[in-house]
Amino acid sequence: MREPRCIGVLAWPKISFRLMNDRATDAAHPRVYLETYGCQMNIADSQTVSAVLRRAGYVSADRAEDADVILLNTCAIREHAEERVLGRLGELSRIKHARPEVKIGLLGCMAQHNRAAIMEKAAFLDVVAGPDSYRRLPEMIGRAGDDALIDVRLDRAETYADITPDYGGGVRAYVTAMRGCDKFCAFCVVPYVRGRERSIAPAELMREIGELAGRGVKEVVLLGQTVNAYRFGDADFGALLKMVASIGGIERIRFTSPHPGDMSDSVIEAMATEPKVQPYLHLPIQSGSDRILAAMERGYTVADYLDLVVRLRAAIPAIALSTDIIAGFHGEEDSDFEATMEVMRAVGYDSAFMFKYSVREHTRAFRLGDSVSREEKGRRLSALIALQEEISLARNRATVGREFPVLVEGQARRGEGMMAGKTPQFKTAIFAGVEGVAAGDTVNVRVDSASSHSLMCSIA
Ligand code: 5AD
Ligand code: SF4
Repeated sequence: MREPRCIGVLAWPKISFRLMNDRATDAAHPRVYLETYGCQMNIADSQTVSAVLRRAGYVSADRAEDADVILLNTCAIREHAEERVLGRLGELSRIKHARPEVKIGLLGCMAQHNRAAIMEKAAFLDVVAGPDSYRRLPEMIGRAGDDALIDVRLDRAETYADITPDYGGGVRAYVTAMRGCDKFCAFCVVPYVRGRERSIAPAELMREIGELAGRGVKEVVLLGQTVNAYRFGDADFGALLKMVASIGGIERIRFTSPHPGDMSDSVIEAMATEPKVQPYLHLPIQSGSDRILAAMERGYTVADYLDLVVRLRAAIPAIALSTDIIAGFHGEEDSDFEATMEVMRAVGYDSAFMFKYSVREHTRAFRLGDSVSREEKGRRLSALIALQEEISLARNRATVGREFPVLVEGQARRGEGMMAGKTPQFKTAIFAGVEGVAAGDTVNVRVDSASSHSLMCSIA
């Protein structure tokens, strides 16, 4: 399950920053604490926010308690995501009470989605800024006084292309290739909170990824809400993949999330022919029932989707697939749900993200209603998760005895001396570290055993 929680706190490289500004005093450098909720896109946006604020003279604080400015970059995809942020705001209100001079800001999708309700619940907020307003944040924070400053204008032209985000360290970097979404799936709030689709010029992306390669990044993940709808002039997403593959030093390319309807021959061809593009695809299906897919306005049928899976597997035999599934969309009957379970078995996903349907204000499905009870959604979700665990385990066990090149990311989270990295199929490989093997290296490993979430390996 992928439920938004705080997924990252950005800490800036203070030492190098101080060196750049060695005559300035700390008082001139307000400390900001930035907490991120939601998807990869939000992490990438937080890196842009970080760059904007750093340019304006801010330094980072490690804890909200020590900060002059506290920012939450939020997610609105499901009600649960918003509830978590509201809970966190409750905690922050205590800091505001104790130190009224602290500025507290709400950024991102929730700011865009429900600002009135939020201002009612958290009247102490100083700044509310939607995803297209980050350029103006320093000014907003500076001006915020007795009244909150709210800027939730969506801007069809804003791509932040000229702002190089503060990438964290590591072998993998997430690079935004396009912003927004034009699909308007009936359940989804994204087009309303992130606005229309817009792609970033290939030249900008090439410059940025080239710089990342120079800093030791080995893998880039191109990001966009419907990333394969990318288009800039004559360049479609297949062309972009090939361009990125020409950058020296970048060894692996991934992207997320594609829409099945935009999975063109050009993209499949680039995946099949360009060795740097990894054999892994997150291909959200949402439901395995044509009736529900139509109500969701997804723009494809189950047969279309399965045909795409066949074409992908023919072109890229090593491909691993993952998906997103929503349990209990309005009108989903037992038979529709069974059809979803059936498609999961038929495709055999390597992994899946599964969610209970959450009615979102402003969406097309808002007025339809919410016919499946909370309990029934819970039952369906549990059944989906149990089935997927079984399938993931079987698929991972099928790799036992096989060898894979693994891009080493660093120490494994658990186990003394253990290291972790990803296989081309984006499966987590864990192995005992050896002298001379470090993050950024690619090593060949053999799979010894597998769980539903990772592969235990030895260096081959
Ligand atoms: N309720 C539940 N899940 C949702 N998603 C998007 N909107 C909703 C909603 N209203 C899921 C979809 C999407 C993923 C990012 O979140 O499965 O692919
Ligand atoms: Fe939401 Fe559909 Fe756009 Fe994905 S493609 S962000 S589910 S509207």
